[in-house]
Amino acid sequence: MPTNQAVSLKNLLAKDEQFLASALYRVFHIVADRGEGSYLYTTDGQKYLDLTCGIGVTQLGHCHPEVVKAAQEQLAKLMHVSCVTHHTENIKLAEKLAGILPGDINNTFFCNSGAEAVDGSIKLSRYVNPGRPNIVAFRGSFHGRTLGATALSSSKSLHRKHYDPLLAGINFVDFPNCWQCPVFKDPNNCGLECLDLLTRMFKLNLPPESISAIIIEPMVGEGGYVPAPPHNQNPRFNYLKELRKICDEYNILLVCDEVQSGIGRTGKWFATEYYDVVPDVITMAKGIASGLPMGAFASKKKFMSLMPPGAHGSTFGGNLVSCAAALKTLEVIEKENILDYVSKTGTELIKHLESALKQKAKIRGLGFMLGIELASKELADKVVEECFKEKMLILTAGAEQKVIRFIPPLNIEKTLLFNVVDKIISFINKA
Ligand SMILES: Cc1ncc(COP(=O)(O)O)c(C=O)c1O
Repeated sequence: MPTNQAVSLKNLLAKDEQFLASALYRVFHIVADRGEGSYLYTTDGQKYLDLTCGIGVTQLGHCHPEVVKAAQEQLAKLMHVSCVTHHTENIKLAEKLAGILPGDINNTFFCNSGAEAVDGSIKLSRYVNPGRPNIVAFRGSFHGRTLGATALSSSKSLHRKHYDPLLAGINFVDFPNCWQCPVFKDPNNCGLECLDLLTRMFKLNLPPESISAIIIEPMVGEGGYVPAPPHNQNPRFNYLKELRKICDEYNILLVCDEVQSGIGRTGKWFATEYYDVVPDVITMAKGIASGLPMGAFASKKKFMSLMPPGAHGSTFGGNLVSCAAALKTLEVIEKENILDYVSKTGTELIKHLESALKQKAKIRGLGFMLGIELASKELADKVVEECFKEKMLILTAGAEQKVIRFIPPLNIEKTLLFNVVDKIISFINKA
């Protein structure tokens, strides 16, 4: 006899199929009910260790009490005014962000998601560089699902199927992936020849003076968790610095999409800090408000001021409750010294994984944004399945879905973290 809980799970999934759009892919066919810290509890009474963080969002675990309290207090006080009036919460948050964003990036537009942030950055680039219709994006990257962000994305062709014509003027160049070098060089002995792919494009078909922006994820996320060099595989070259020089030479806006890598995920507020580079624009979303919807793009005041009032807008962007949650999220990350914990522990994790998995996997990443590339999708699926049996939720990434994607909460307890990693190592070794 099936239990009541099993029957109700079956019913819920049947209703989900009947009433919810099929376009939204779901990884695990369980129904979440509540969350606490690193754990997710389902309607059928199961407890899962959530190593997905709702795709890199719940940086402080589920329902961090201080964030919940801040959001609840704001909820009871004032939920929404849109742009009808000014309000304290987005002013406080924008000021806070100006303090943690790199270099002279000090002015922010708030929206509701990562894709919206990316779209906004395209609009900004058109204001800064009017009359320049082209944009350069990187093959393998993902920037979101709006039509603008879809046009910039190339991590899976399904994301673009049937949607042409998309935004015109997008030109793709290969990402500097040292684990699968686009110009077939040995990363230990190369001259950053992958950069020539871009400069050659300038010579052959894309005059640099026609480009308004170059957009890059400092660490490719959905496309397979691949950081741009320098990193453990190629410590000699700084790709982002070279890109910065090119952008300066031709007055092209350098946009770093930090929707996934930002807000402490890599052990710094923003991954670009590892590259000692200040981009012109940073996009952010995901972890900023611990799970309440929020996105943002930020740049220096000089550029942002070129967009006059009304040039861009959003009914819900910078919502008071999301802002209150974001302010508290940033405060807790600072107060609990989480960036330091994540950067140090991330380095230890990489070393541990490398020594345990030597020939079986390619290990890469920064902080708690780690990729474990396996030989095949079948192997990665097997590991995800074994984790699921052990009540651990974990995702994969990459066009071939063979990268195990390790994005635990930033405040996960260290002993638990290493226990989990050891389990994953044993699943990989057995698979
Ligand atoms: C780098 C990057 N940019 C943009 C997005 C889109 O964000 P959202 O799903 O909030 O629109 C994502 C989502 O995964 C992302 O990883």
